[in-house]
Order: sequence, then C-alpha cells, then structure tokens
Amino acid sequence: MSTGGKPLRLGVLLSGRGSNFLAIAHSIREGRLPNVEIAIVLSNVADAPGIQAARDLNLTTAVFVSKGRARADHDADLIACLRGHNVDLVCLAGYMRLLSPGFIAAFPNRILNIHPSLLPAFPGLDAQEQAFDYGVKIAGCTVHFVDEHLDHGAIILQRAIPILETDDAHSLSERILVEEHIAYTDAITRVASGDYVIRGRRYVKR
Ligand code: GRF
Repeated sequence: MSTGGKPLRLGVLLSGRGSNFLAIAHSIREGRLPNVEIAIVLSNVADAPGIQAARDLNLTTAVFVSKGRARADHDADLIACLRGHNVDLVCLAGYMRLLSPGFIAAFPNRILNIHPSLLPAFPGLDAQEQAFDYGVKIAGCTVHFVDEHLDHGAIILQRAIPILETDDAHSLSERILVEEHIAYTDAITRVASGDYVIRGRRYVKR
C-alpha cells in the first residue's frame, strides 16, 4: 500500500475489550510496525474498555454510538471521521457491527478484520466455542480483507493451534487470542509492504 514514504495511518474500530488494538499499539511503540501510526481509534460503544485504553495511551479517539441509528447514517459519520484523519487502512479489532456497503466502497481493499477461527469454518459470534463444541482438533485465527459478507473477504494470513485434551472453550479462546495478537501485526506488515496482489479471493505475495 503506497503512502509515498509517509507513515501508514491506521483507523482502528472497536466495540469492547480492545486487546487486539492494544497489541497493534504495542507493536508500533516497540518498533515492530515501522512507518505505521494510529491516526484514530473509534468505538461504537461509549464505555468500551478499548476506547478508554486508547485514551490512556493519549491516542486520538472518537465515539459514535450506533445503537438506534440506521447503519448507513452511522457509517457515514465513521467514513467522514476516518477521512478527516487521513486514514489509509481501517483495522477492525472486535468491532461488533456489520459495515454498510457504502463503508466497504469508501475503503476498497483497505479494511482488515481479525476473526478467532480458521475461516471459512465458524464465522459469526462465539467462533471459539463453535470450534470447541464441534470437536475440531485444529483451531486458530484469520486476518482477512473485509467485503460485504460476514467474515468473508480475501484471507491475508491464518495461525493455527492444536486443541488440547485439557482445553475448555475458555482456555482455547485464551490461546487463540495469543495468536491473534501476533497475527494482526504480521498482517498489517504484509499489507503495509504493498507487496501483494489479490487474485479472486487469493492474497498472493508478489
Ligand atoms: C477477538 O477475538 C477478535 O478475533 C474478534 O473479537 C475479539 C475482540 O477481542 N473479532 P479484543 O476486543 O480485541 O480483545
């Protein structure tokens, strides 16, 4: 993704805890994401712990409460805010709301999402519990571009872990989360490099 040598500016969207956002922020602060900066952190939930964590890090934040609003109207506010902060790449980090077609079109192939399963298995809510209850032996996480379908766009990378005999859904979620935090930084690095093409659904390194 070419920014003409300028830092790649991220817009992070979250609704909850914000551990993936924090993992990205720490990667930037610790030099693992060179030439990347967080332009703004947005939440659709006023008291999301993640937005407080962003304030604590002195990052620029904004809250646009989505409850009770039409999706297109709410998303129009988000688009204006992201554009106003010159965001190059949108990172969904536990953002619990579907994006409107208008939002997807505003940032073509510039929206990433992280999902706690090996897609296309177990899209939607409670993916870790879905995987555990199904009895699969390998679980993991996926970072993908966002399109108009839920947990669906071209896959950038996946990280897999075995499900252990001793696991329950909670311990599995915790172990997947460790992988998520590595995966998101890795995926941003890949996208920031611009060294890829998307062929159909396939992310292919050049
Ligand atoms: C993560 O499991 C992520 O994969 C999913 O929502 C959860 C968000 O967790 N999309 P956090 O808010 O980043 O801690």
